[in-house]
Amino acid sequence: MNLFDQLAVETPSIPSMYKEMTRRELEDRAIAVKQKLGARVFLPGHHYQKDEVIQFADTKGDSLVLAQQSALQKEAESIIFLGVHFMAETADILTGEHQRVYLPDMRAGCSMADMATKAQTEKAWEKLNDVFGDSILPLTYVNSTAAIKAFVGRHGGATVTSSNAAGMVKWAFTQKQRILFLPDQHLGRNTAYDLGVPLENMAVWDPMKETLLFDGDWSNIQVILWRGHCSVHENFTTSNIAQVRKDHPEMHIIVHPECTREVVARSDSSGSTNFIIQTIEQAPPGSAFAIGTEMNLVKRIIKDHPDKHIISLNPNMCPCLTMNRIDLPHLLWSLEALDAGQEINRITVDKYIANDAKKALSRMLERV
Ligand code: 13P
Ligand code: SF4
Repeated sequence: MNLFDQLAVETPSIPSMYKEMTRRELEDRAIAVKQKLGARVFLPGHHYQKDEVIQFADTKGDSLVLAQQSALQKEAESIIFLGVHFMAETADILTGEHQRVYLPDMRAGCSMADMATKAQTEKAWEKLNDVFGDSILPLTYVNSTAAIKAFVGRHGGATVTSSNAAGMVKWAFTQKQRILFLPDQHLGRNTAYDLGVPLENMAVWDPMKETLLFDGDWSNIQVILWRGHCSVHENFTTSNIAQVRKDHPEMHIIVHPECTREVVARSDSSGSTNFIIQTIEQAPPGSAFAIGTEMNLVKRIIKDHPDKHIISLNPNMCPCLTMNRIDLPHLLWSLEALDAGQEINRITVDKYIANDAKKALSRMLERV
């Protein structure tokens, strides 16, 4: 189910009292109810969540760590996911039948995940198979709906995250001659390029026009990139890089691989949110960094490293708007509803879809 389908089913609105409380009141009540719920509830939080929310996370991580933690979490009856919709779906797929997953605000989607629908993917697969026969393995970034993960699982493929994309693409080439990489063309392109696939051997599938964009002999195509992107990371540009090189030539430019190929090629290093955090943690005092990733995380890294000079690669960058939908009032509402035995904003992936999606996720989790 994509986000729009989910919203059409049930989207209760937050009671107004939560919007009227002071930050202090919200925090005090959240501490109290979380303490009361104890081990019955588990709160995984993505690094892009804002501080007012992430302070309540039981574990923080990038998409890979959170998927692993969800698979390991056997105790908690309820999981309140501090992240976006596809992450909560993944948690529902990987947790047991007795566990329930909630998302504090159902509007916390991901524009990239919604760029590949099931109908578009099936259409693309049919057309690509007509041309290339049985030579393609599908891989999907975890930033995709459960339906896309299920499609990939049914066709022998796997999920990837930005932490393990290189290993998964290498594995995919041991299975088939070509890969179809959904839905983020930039992560796919950056990863394949680093593994030695020339840009000339990469085509782009345009799901709107149902066309393969490629100049040359189609038999040379090794990677078919889905024409999707992250609307946050596409805002880092080569002009931003040129400006930082001019103003701060000493700075190490570190970016997320959801940035375009041109930006990644001109930066000094690239990797997942965990990679960015660890690189900066391990750098000596006095180091200088310009970071190309989501703004809640960049602000937190700046705060956590007063001994280092850190800026955002794009000075006009905003946080991811959908990650920001999860705020303290919604979190408190979720916790108190749980305590009152109410079921609001539950994420449930259809069993048939979950079964196939789990195949794609398991092929990844057993390799990392
Ligand atoms: P990672 O958590 O894999 O770094 O991905 C970043 C992201 O955009 C999550 O939505
Ligand atoms: Fe989606 Fe990009 Fe936001 Fe991540 S940062 S949730 S990929 S829109």
